[in-house]
Amino acid sequence: MAKYVINTENKKSKINKEIYGHFSEHLGRCIYEGLYVGENSDIPNTNGMRNDVVEALKEMKIPVLRWPGGCFADEYHWRDGVGPKETRKKMINTHWGGVVEDNSFGTHEFFELCRQLGCKAYINGNVGSGTVQEMSEWVEYMTFEGVSPMADMRKENGHEDAWTVDYFGVGNENWGCGGNMTPEYYGNLYRRYQTYVREYNHDKKIFKVACGPNVDDYEWTEGVMKTCFRHCPPQAHGFMDGLSLHYYTYPEGWEIKGSATDFDEKAWYKTLAKTLYMETLINRHGAIMDQYDPEKQVGLIVDEWGTWFTVEPGTNPGFLYQQNTMRDALVAGINLNIFNKHSDRVKMANIAQLVNVLQSVILTDGPQMIKTPTYHVFKMFKDHQEATLVDSHIETEQIGLEDEYQVPNLSESASIDADGRLQITIANLSATDSYPVETRIVGFAGEKVSAEILTEEMHAMNTFENPNAVTVKAFDGVERVHGGLKFTIPACSVLHITVE
Ligand code: AHR
Repeated sequence: MAKYVINTENKKSKINKEIYGHFSEHLGRCIYEGLYVGENSDIPNTNGMRNDVVEALKEMKIPVLRWPGGCFADEYHWRDGVGPKETRKKMINTHWGGVVEDNSFGTHEFFELCRQLGCKAYINGNVGSGTVQEMSEWVEYMTFEGVSPMADMRKENGHEDAWTVDYFGVGNENWGCGGNMTPEYYGNLYRRYQTYVREYNHDKKIFKVACGPNVDDYEWTEGVMKTCFRHCPPQAHGFMDGLSLHYYTYPEGWEIKGSATDFDEKAWYKTLAKTLYMETLINRHGAIMDQYDPEKQVGLIVDEWGTWFTVEPGTNPGFLYQQNTMRDALVAGINLNIFNKHSDRVKMANIAQLVNVLQSVILTDGPQMIKTPTYHVFKMFKDHQEATLVDSHIETEQIGLEDEYQVPNLSESASIDADGRLQITIANLSATDSYPVETRIVGFAGEKVSAEILTEEMHAMNTFENPNAVTVKAFDGVERVHGGLKFTIPACSVLHITVE
């Protein structure tokens, strides 16, 4: 019997809704086909955006969307994507499959998508191959309400009002595809570029994100924090609000990543063990950040995470299209629980990527659309958005088939939402075993319990032929007993319990 204690009297950090954020790059079929089909498409759309996809994402309560990349961001020149579509430049997407990018989806289309989704906008600027002037003028184009060359151009292009840029990334992976820089060199560029990311409207703050480390590159974190944070003049509010972290789960390695669907139990545990490494990374990068910023003014922004498998057979290797199984559901559940638990430092996270690329919540094939197991986990966790994390601890045992890839059998987090309800999410990492759990809840009187579960065999997935093989079901196995809850969590599952 696993003992689980939730102390609702020990309230911790707020879980920003942005922890449940997403990422959409001009890569493969994410933007084109996945989100945007154009006004003249036979696929039902509103101003070019797929109605089915927008509807599904709204149901999942998507809070924020990052765009246009990724590596694409440091090659993107925003002027190519505004103005009449017939005259927009065509270019080669060198990073991703060498296909023609016709720029029919640009700044106006991105903000239209965010409007339809009702989500915040996270724009990633170009430091690698763009100028300070270009970045500064893009911000002016998007956010300036008065009379100016860029605001006038936006109006001529059909949008009178300024948009709100909630988050702005100053470059992407500048240690790699974004310019192969050293941390000090990037840190100095960050200082310079961010100066011209002006806040024209003082009521609408732009949260500025500096490019952070790849996985365990602690020197990068140290170098950027040292160069940027320490020298932040007190009057420069918003100098550096966030530092990004990118960490993907490859079950095997960078060269041979491993199949998304054809895996054995060893690969199952290996994948989950590698996923859990996220917590080590947050702790270690967080410890470096703490040295400069003990008050945690700078958020750790995990703006790329998720599984990265070998592409589906027969698809363009540059499109990064992969299927999604119960294993991805567990990866999502584990990561989201980790982010909740570290919401004092992790202020936003963006799974890669929204549709048809890597660990997507949605896959499309022509007019068809399916929701992946990962989608269902995001939807089940949505009640944590803007809730307050509470202290919780579960007894676990180590499980797995190889010594190197042992994992704790259970992962959890708990919060109190704005309506005073207790929200609990638990994942069972075992592919085969269920576990009884006895929960003690301190300081919470609510009696009414409801629960929902995602559970299937580890390879289970949704396909275009069988789109509902993996869906969320009501779970009536949770009993309210004196002082807590009793339940048995099935193998290979993600469980969401509400007590009110
Ligand atoms: O998400 C795919 C790619 O992974 C992004 O473009 C890049 O930032 C990262 O390396």
